Amino acid sequence: MSMDITPVKKGEQVHFHNPAIAFYEAIGGEDGMRKLMYNFYDKIYESDIAHFFPQDEEEFEAVKVKNTKFFIQICGGSKVYEDEAKGMELNEYMIRLHDDFSITEKSRIEWLGTMREALNEVKGVDKALIENFWDYLENFSKLTVNTFSDGSTYYAAYTQAEEKK
Ligand code: HEM
Repeated sequence: MSMDITPVKKGEQVHFHNPAIAFYEAIGGEDGMRKLMYNFYDKIYESDIAHFFPQDEEEFEAVKVKNTKFFIQICGGSKVYEDEAKGMELNEYMIRLHDDFSITEKSRIEWLGTMREALNEVKGVDKALIENFWDYLENFSKLTVNTFSDGSTYYAAYTQAEEKK
C-alpha cells in the first residue's frame, strides 16, 4: 500500500474530498472507527508530537472520544459530531480548531506517519478504500499546517469536492 505524503506548498490551493462511506462500512462502522482512532491516539502519545496533546489522562481520553466522533461523521456515519462543530461545516470547524496550534510540515508528517502505522494494522479492508481514506487525510492535513520554516504563518485556501447525493 503506498499511502504517499506530498509536501505542503505555502500559498497553494488544497483540494480534498471527504472519505467514501464504503471505507466506513468496510472498517466496521462506529466500533471499527473507534478501534482505529484509539490505536492511532495511543501511538500519538508515544510520538514526536505528543507534546501538542493534553498530558492529563482524562483530558487525553476526551480528545480520543471527540476525535472518533469527528471521523464517524466525516466518513458518512451518524452525525455524532454535529454539536461539537457549533453549527459550522465539519472541515471548516476542524481547520479553525487547528489554527490555535502552531503546526509545521514536520508535525504533519509525524501525524500522517502515525496514522499510516495505525492503518497498516487494520485487517480485512480493501486497499483501495484505505487509499481513499488516506487521500482525504493527506490532502486535508495540509490545511492544518500554518507555521513555516522561515517562522511565517499562513492559512491555506481550499476547495472541497461536492458530496455525491
Ligand atoms: C487530516 C488531518 C487532521 C484531522 C482530520 C484532525 C482531526 C482532529 C480532531 C477531530 C480533533 C479533536 C477535535 C475536538 O476537540 O473536538 C483534533 C484535535 C487536535 N489535533 Fe488534529 N487532526 C489533523 C491533523 C493534525 C495535525 C497534523 C496535528 C499536528 C500536531 C494535529 C494536532 C491536533 C491537536 C493539538 C488537537 C487538540 C488536542 C486538544 O484538544 O488539546 N492534528 N484533530
